[in-house]
Amino acid sequence: MLARPCALAVAAEVRVSAGLEGVVAGRSSISWVGGETSDLVYRGFDVRELVPGVPYESVAHLLLLGEPPEADPSPVLTEALARARTPSAGALAGTDALDPKLPPLEALRTILSLLGDGSWGYPPRLEDGYRLIAQSPVLLTRFVRRARGLPAVPPRPELGHVANYLHTLHGREAAPQQVAALEAYFDLLADHGMNASTFVLRIAISTHSDLASAATGALGTLKGPLHGGAPSRVLEMLRAIGRPEAAERWIAERLARGELLYGFGHRAYKSEDPRGLLFHEIARRVAAPERVELAETVERVGLAALRAAHPTARIFANVEFYSAVVLDAIGLPPELFTPTFALARTTGWTAHALEQASDNRLIRPDVEYVGPPKGRRWPRPRRDR
Ligand code: ACO
Repeated sequence: MLARPCALAVAAEVRVSAGLEGVVAGRSSISWVGGETSDLVYRGFDVRELVPGVPYESVAHLLLLGEPPEADPSPVLTEALARARTPSAGALAGTDALDPKLPPLEALRTILSLLGDGSWGYPPRLEDGYRLIAQSPVLLTRFVRRARGLPAVPPRPELGHVANYLHTLHGREAAPQQVAALEAYFDLLADHGMNASTFVLRIAISTHSDLASAATGALGTLKGPLHGGAPSRVLEMLRAIGRPEAAERWIAERLARGELLYGFGHRAYKSEDPRGLLFHEIARRVAAPERVELAETVERVGLAALRAAHPTARIFANVEFYSAVVLDAIGLPPELFTPTFALARTTGWTAHALEQASDNRLIRPDVEYVGPPKGRRWPRPRRDR
């Protein structure tokens, strides 16, 4: 949009990009989102090369250290996360003091803040990232179990990061198929270019803030349903529709009310979201066939309705659509969908914090001032005159 600035702004025309669409806000070698070509690439590796099968520790190794590990799961990351997994007494006490009625996402936001005990400085260190990645699931599951009246379950050193998350949540070792599906989820959600929450994190780091504070801001951004808050709403939609025959009417009525269809559309992908395609395959393996059939019908009907309403918009199902089916199938309750997304993204957030600090410049854009021009007079006499 071209707009003419008021007298206070610069004399030349300014170009305003609402939503910063098309604005390149920096350089990154962590991940590439190919929105036109259905690509997601981590440091040169197509995610289809990694998922399913590569353990989260190895993906984290790649994202944080730049190269793949010498073995799977990465011995370096396995060791580092195991070493970092014990929260401080303050973080444990703070978590236990939280109101058990809090939704887990609100609790996790406070938990990330609790991790920042004054010892996390600038520039962020890899060790800070290990603490963030390793301790967030321990504290979140401790909170969830306490809210359910259950004792905390300590992590088991012989289990991997994802298996430990399920173990400390449910108090029993998860089935290998569940761990494999959630591992794919963690891998695919680990990073995604300059998404909104990562951008917020990089802004915070650019001011020389610390990683715990930056991650708290990032989670507050991920929470929104236009970003990471969508998956539980996808499940609500599937449950409300109930059976394939009801999809057309339900969707038409929802769109007629001007409401969003969660799980559809993406700012970056103007072609299929590659993660969505992978989650569709995983859903076929782990979810009940009737649930997959319902989701496939809702996808088909939803896309037809959205494309009819917005013929030029190039709308596809996004990552949240089939990932919600997968998370539901492996027994995670909907209130843990977005917190689980955040746990997976702590690796990407750490990688971006380190990268931002390695070549920092304060991120501080301009805004076009469109208020009244300079020169107004205060309506009453001022006291000091
Ligand atoms: N439901 C209803 N209408 C939609 C949807 C949707 N899911 N997606 C796009 N549209 C509409 C937009 O409102 C817009 O309408 P308008 O031209 O009348 O204003 C039109 O289609 C074009 O949309 P775009 O400009 O291409 O979409 P944009 O880049 O602004 O938004 C967004 C992307 C915010 C994700 C949007 O598609 C949306 O709100 N989706 C639903 C929420 C959702 O699923 N979020 C998760 C995203 S994935 C992630 O962040 C991890």
